[in-house]
Amino acid sequence: MSKKDIIIRVAGEGGEGIISTGDFIAAACARAGMDVYTFKTFPAEIKGGYAMYQVRASSEKVYNQGDSFDVFCAFNGEAFELNRHLMVPGTAVVYDFPGGDFDPGPLPEGVIGYPIPMSQAAKDLKSYRSKNMVAIGALSVLFNISEETIKKVLNKKFAKKGAEVLNHNLEAFDKGKELGRALEKKDAWKVSDPLPPHDVIVIAGNDAVGLGAIIGGLQFFSAYPITPATEIAKYVAIHLPKRGGDLVQAEDEIASISQVLGASYAGKRSMTATSGPGLALMSEMLGMAAMSETPVMVVDVQRGGPSTGMPTKHEQSDLFLAIHGVHGDAPRLVLSVEDVKDCVDMTVDALNLAEKYQVPVILMSDGSLAFSTQTIPTPDPAKYQVVTRKRWDGQGTYKRYQMTDDLISPMADPGTPNAMHIATGLEHGETGAPNWNPQNHWDMHKKRFNKLDRVVKEYKPVEIHGEGRADVGIITWGSTIGVVREAVERLRAQGVKVKGFYPKLMWPMPVEQYEAFAATCGKILVPEVNFQGQLAHFIRAETSIKPIRYNICGGLPFTPSMIVDKVKELI
Ligand code: COA
Repeated sequence: MSKKDIIIRVAGEGGEGIISTGDFIAAACARAGMDVYTFKTFPAEIKGGYAMYQVRASSEKVYNQGDSFDVFCAFNGEAFELNRHLMVPGTAVVYDFPGGDFDPGPLPEGVIGYPIPMSQAAKDLKSYRSKNMVAIGALSVLFNISEETIKKVLNKKFAKKGAEVLNHNLEAFDKGKELGRALEKKDAWKVSDPLPPHDVIVIAGNDAVGLGAIIGGLQFFSAYPITPATEIAKYVAIHLPKRGGDLVQAEDEIASISQVLGASYAGKRSMTATSGPGLALMSEMLGMAAMSETPVMVVDVQRGGPSTGMPTKHEQSDLFLAIHGVHGDAPRLVLSVEDVKDCVDMTVDALNLAEKYQVPVILMSDGSLAFSTQTIPTPDPAKYQVVTRKRWDGQGTYKRYQMTDDLISPMADPGTPNAMHIATGLEHGETGAPNWNPQNHWDMHKKRFNKLDRVVKEYKPVEIHGEGRADVGIITWGSTIGVVREAVERLRAQGVKVKGFYPKLMWPMPVEQYEAFAATCGKILVPEVNFQGQLAHFIRAETSIKPIRYNICGGLPFTPSMIVDKVKELI
């Protein structure tokens, strides 16, 4: 791979402004026209603990956070030591010295060091909080990060905190620049000069879900705050009321999904957003939605579990819950996003599918994507199709659960003359009245489940990456797809026969397509960020494929090199 990109990692203690520093760098790279992909990880505590933000910026499309870093900025000794093993010859390291909490001693061989007394400078300016701005001032001169953009973002961020805070930070930024200029530049890393402008936005995964919801015609949203999903509600709270929609912060997840069901029954396009523990609480009402054929959409932003687990950390471990976290035989659709662009597009899709098929739809994202800011083409709302539910045309006798050729029974908003819309959790016949007849229960199950078969045929379920026969086929899902994409490209460039299979429709599984893919491959590798190999489990259960599991779950995503090495090991 040619090195068209630069990876900058900033790390220190939560509360020191690591996230803001990363945001500034990402914004500057994006405004320079570069494609940006960020990854951040921080503790569950409000203050203290290791926080890290990585910005990958390139003149070409980037699909993941990259292997390691080219430039590292350490705010404290802990961050330095945790990253020492990743410093290779040529890496540039900016670190808080002297006057910080550590003396790194001799740097690893070939590593280029830039000691910047960040803490001391902030102390001298009598503004300890602005240590991060000293760092960013130094980074901007050392690595060609646009001063103009940083100042714009800095003004926007801190002006609302008052003139004093703003001025301290501007002063600290200038001090950082002065300290950076005083050092001799000894490495080749730099952020590229501005590229020609193109029509893109830079947006985080959670905000992109919110944007997708607005584009997708959302009318009602109810949620209970939970990391890492809360920003979806924050985005919707700003934009939905302006468009005539309603938002409720419910007292818990059971209340929020119940309100979503109620609003949908009343005719509104409705959704909620949560994480694993919240989705678990919603399972009873998702059964109710399945039985009453009420369209509902739930976004599940996965985090490290179970229980309170590792709430701010990345994991892909809710697939069992999303697919089978249900009582009785209850149909549902489960979709999974790959990247921030999908967060917009597939939120629209998920709302459409819920309305069209009158089923609960769970859209899965994850902690890495939730906070990852990425460059995406500016979405044009006019280019998205908003599918509305099939409504009763007023002809004949209204039967809410009428058996129809396309398996979809027309809905009638409550209050429609001559149409009694019964939404019931009890098994029912066509009119909606309770019905315990054994044959009826069987027929109604068939009606509800056969709708899912249609989705497999009608919704774009998978993407195949690479042609011909392959020694190794890689099946993966969620944000791991972006990592595998790059690994497949790297391997194929080296002549290794490898292909990728990327499902977005997780349930029902497009079994024929899994089988057809596997038939063109020798071994099948399934990398996932979970302990049990949850997708691999479903592949074994539903297909004849015998996948090789590759699991990590330490709160961090895979890197492309990990996949490359694993494939080589298998070959
Ligand atoms: N001058 C003034 N204020 C500054 C500053 C500076 N130079 N640099 C940063 N700040 C402010 C930021 O604006 C932010 O305040 P805001 O929220 O009012 O905007 C605050 O300091 C934190 O800085 P930030 O850069 O955003 O984050 P950080 O790297 O210091 O990390 C947390 C701190 C709190 C954001 C992070 O640790 C966190 O969110 N933890 C998770 C909490 C959680 O979700 N727990 C889960 C419970 S289940």
